[in-house]
Parts: sequence; C-alpha cells; structure tokens
Amino acid sequence: MTTRPLRFLHRGQVVEIATVPPMTTVLDWLRLQKRLTGTKEGCGEGDCGACTVALGRVKGGRLIYEPANACILLLGQLDGAELVTVEDLAVGGRLHPVQQALVDHHGSQCGFCTPGFVMSLFTLHQEGGGADREAVLSRISGNLCRCTGYRPIVDAAEAALAVPNDRFRARAAETVAQLARLRDDKDLFVADGEGFFAAPASLDALCALAEAHPDATLLGGATDVGLWITKQLRTLPKILHTGRVTELRRLADDGDSLSIGAAVTYAEARQALSAFDPDVALLLERLGSAQVRAAGTIGGNVANGSPIGDTPPLLIALGATVELQKAGVVRQLPIERFFLAYGRQDRQPSEVLTRIIVPKRAAGLHLRVFKIAKRFDQDISSVMVALAVTLEGGRIASARIAFGGMAGIPKRATAVEAALVGAAPADEAAVATAVARLAEDFTPLDDHRASAAYRLTVAGNLIRKALAEIAAGERSSTRIAPLRGGAHAA
Ligand SMILES: Cc1cc2nc3c(=O)[nH]c(=O)nc-3n(C[C@H](O)[C@H](O)[C@H](O)COP(=O)(O)OP(=O)(O)OC[C@H]3O[C@@H](n4cnc5c(N)ncnc54)[C@H](O)[C@@H]3O)c2cc1C
Ligand code: FES
Ligand code: FES
Repeated sequence: MTTRPLRFLHRGQVVEIATVPPMTTVLDWLRLQKRLTGTKEGCGEGDCGACTVALGRVKGGRLIYEPANACILLLGQLDGAELVTVEDLAVGGRLHPVQQALVDHHGSQCGFCTPGFVMSLFTLHQEGGGADREAVLSRISGNLCRCTGYRPIVDAAEAALAVPNDRFRARAAETVAQLARLRDDKDLFVADGEGFFAAPASLDALCALAEAHPDATLLGGATDVGLWITKQLRTLPKILHTGRVTELRRLADDGDSLSIGAAVTYAEARQALSAFDPDVALLLERLGSAQVRAAGTIGGNVANGSPIGDTPPLLIALGATVELQKAGVVRQLPIERFFLAYGRQDRQPSEVLTRIIVPKRAAGLHLRVFKIAKRFDQDISSVMVALAVTLEGGRIASARIAFGGMAGIPKRATAVEAALVGAAPADEAAVATAVARLAEDFTPLDDHRASAAYRLTVAGNLIRKALAEIAAGERSSTRIAPLRGGAHAA
C-alpha cells in the first residue's frame, strides 16, 4: 500500500499534514491550531451552522462549493478539497458581496451566527443562479439566528445573489487545476502514535485495513460519528474513511435499478432519488440541512441502523438490496433483513457496506412518503412512512409499507399490508380494519419526540391519507400547507 499524508488547499496553498490525532475536527484545527477564530462554535453537533465553512471540490467537471459543519467534520475529510473560511472572503478591507449585503440589509446583530450565514450564502453565491428566495431558504435551513430574525438575512442574500461575480469565480480555473494536482490513487494514512485516520482510494485497500483493524470505525460523512466525538466524548483511535474509495463513490443507473455507492452523499444522490417521486424530493429537502446533505451519506444512514433514519423506510418500501463485502466475499440481502434489532445490524466486524441497489419504480406503483417532525427543516422524524402499493382492478394487489420511529428498527407493517391486499383504497371501512392492525405490527416508544399513542395514531392517519390520495389520483387537496419548492404542485 503506497500511503501519503493529508493534503488540502487553503488560501491558495497546499496544506500537508503527516501527523494529526485522528479525531481532530476542522473546527478545532482552525480555532485552536491556526487561531482562525472567525468560524464559531455553537452547538458542536451540526445543528446551528455557526461553524459553517465551504469546501470546494470538482464534481461533474465543475468546481462546486458546498457548506460543511466544521464542528463535526474531521480534518482528514478535507483531503483533496479547498477549505474556505469566513476570514478568506474579504480582500484588502473590501467585503465579499454576501458580507456587504448583510451589512447593507442589517442582517446581523450579535453576529455570532453571521460567519455561518456568510459561508452558507457564499456557497449559494458560487452557484451563480441569481436571486432565488426558495434557494436561499433551503441553503440557510441549517443556520440558526437567535436575534436578528431571518427577513433581513434573506433580503441580504437575495441582494448578494444579484451580484454574481467575485474573485473565487474569477480564479475558478486555477483552483480546478490546483485541485486536480491533489488527486491521486494513493491511500491517505495519517497517524499520531496512538491511532490513525486512513482514507484509502480503493475498496480492496479499505477492506484490507478493515480486516487488519476490526476495531476501527468506518466513517462516511461523520454526521453521526462526529457527534460520538463531540457529544458522547468517545475515543475513536482508528478511523477508516470511505469518502475516497472510488467504488463506494459510484452512483450508477443500471437500467432497471439505481446503484448507490455507500459513500455517495445525499446531495449527490438527490437528483436520481428525487426522480422516483415528488415525495422523495421533499423528503430529501427536509433531511438535515444543506450542510448535513453535503456530507452525510446514504450508506451511513443505512449502516447506523437508526430506527429514525429517513432513508431506510423508503428503501424498504422500494424493495432495495444492500451489498456488503469482507475479505473478498460479497453478499447481498434485502435491506429489511439488514436491520435485526435496536442497535444491531446484519454486518460482521470488518464488513463494509458497499452499495445499495434500488429497483426502478415499476409503472403503476403508487408511492407516498411522509415525514412527521416538529420542524419542517433539519429535524429528526417522530414518525416516517413510505408506502408503495400496486392496484389491479381498483383493488390493492401488493403493498409494502415501512415505518421509521415505530419500533427499535425501521420495519414493515406486515399485518397491515396483508389486510390491505384485496381492498379498494377508497374503501374507508376496509382501510380502517387494516389500520387497526398497526398495533400487531408495532409497540412504539414513548420518548421526548412523541408518545406511543401519538405515533400509533399518526401512523394510521398517514396510511389513510396515502390511500385517499391514491384513490383520488391526486395529492394537492390533501397537502394543506404550500410546501417549499412546489414539490406537490401537481
Ligand atoms: C444536524 C443533523 C441533522 C440530521 N438530520 C437527519 C434527518 O433529518 N434524517 C436522518 O435520517 N438523519 C439525519 N441525521 C443523521 C445523519 O445525517 C444520517 O444518519 C447520515 O446519513 C449518516 O451518514 P454519514 O455518512 O454522515 O455517516 P457516519 O456518521 O460517517 O457513519 C454512521 C454510521 O455508519 C457506519 N458506516 C458508515 N459508512 C459505512 C460503510 N460503508 N460500511 C459500514 N458502516 C459504515 C459508521 O461506522 C457509523 O456507525 C442528522 C444529523 C445531523 C448532525
Ligand atoms: S457549532 Fe453548531 S453546527 Fe457546528
Ligand atoms: S445575529 Fe445574533 S444570533 Fe444571529
């Protein structure tokens, strides 16, 4: 294995780091080592956006800047990227258009949140799409402001977006060339004597390291693992990052299925997954924030086995398969069989989740996806359902209904499904009989997000709503609030 140190671009220069404690976050590196304290720490768990930085990478042949929560991003994850912080925008006392607009529109009071807003809006500004209020709202969904209020910030954003050029865009070709020089197929390995951060470039190298270190932590985007470090104060001496593994980064349309490499991020898979249904597009819009979607992977969402992860119910309803690899042995299993019990998945030590295979939606398959959470944006589900049914002669011929938040694992409502087969979706009595069987399928938890009784009631209502929509052949009348992005206009 040919290894090399960590390398990334910062302020036009290549930063090379050979030794670093593996759990070092980008925020700690900036604030404690580089004394770049413009990037703030608020929550330390990816929720407030005060620590937002921008990461530039070449994707699809274009330089793209994505927002990232520096508090839960590990330094090793910067490999091959350009890091831009709030200190890097103004030149010679001349503010960046985003900063100037925030001043002009009174978009800052105490200013604690402001660097994070500046960086999130900077990434949108780099896209050059012009003033678009919806895009602004979406981009700042992971940035909290407690004193200014959002209107002046959104006004400032729109004003800044109307001034598309800046020096980052002017030097984009140069940046692309610099980033290209950082690309290679060597394996990144940085150690500090007590542990290591490794980011292999190939699946073989990753599997070999996982075999040699069964106690190592596999790391995707760190939107879960980062919190193990910052909130649970766990020690993770050996980290195996999947983000450079070519095979795991592949998103491929295989004709009748979509193959999603385990290290593909939400942002990267968004277009392909959104094509399944407008409800899926809305789910992904509501999953985390722009920062979380830029880092978090679908593989991580599946592998962590959370009962309240948003993609597992969808993937179960769509009949997806997961693929795992260990010591050259590749196996596949239906995703619903991957989740065994709370905190327990069908994955051996050292076994790597390599990809998720999602069958294309068959003609005539009706799909509905609903997420119930306390907030529209960046909130974990209380209850999440994905319902996929086919009809024959106006009656339900097959049903796959998967829930999150109803059990210790994402799980199908098999008793309800069985009761629905043969019923007409408009037959309220038959649907009520089927819904009553939810209590056979689930004994939901009472917790701070929702009571067991609420969960059971809302789960039943979601099934009713989905079937009412399917029977009516339209969904606009059941969607009571105008939803951002107009996902349900049709
Ligand atoms: C602010 C915030 C908001 C969030 N909102 C949502 C939300 O709305 N909905 C939602 O579902 N989740 C949400 N999450 C949780 C998180 O973003 C997702 O679970 C995400 O998909 C995890 O992916 P990751 O790549 O960051 O995983 P990581 O944190 O890197 O890893 C998660 C787990 O998967 C394992 N793992 C990762 N890759 C592999 C692999 N290839 N093989 C085997 N094991 C692997 C890791 O060891 C770890 O156990 C949120 C998180 C934050 C911080
Ligand atoms: S400090 Fe709150 S998201 Fe990072
Ligand atoms: S200006 Fe004070 S939190 Fe936003």
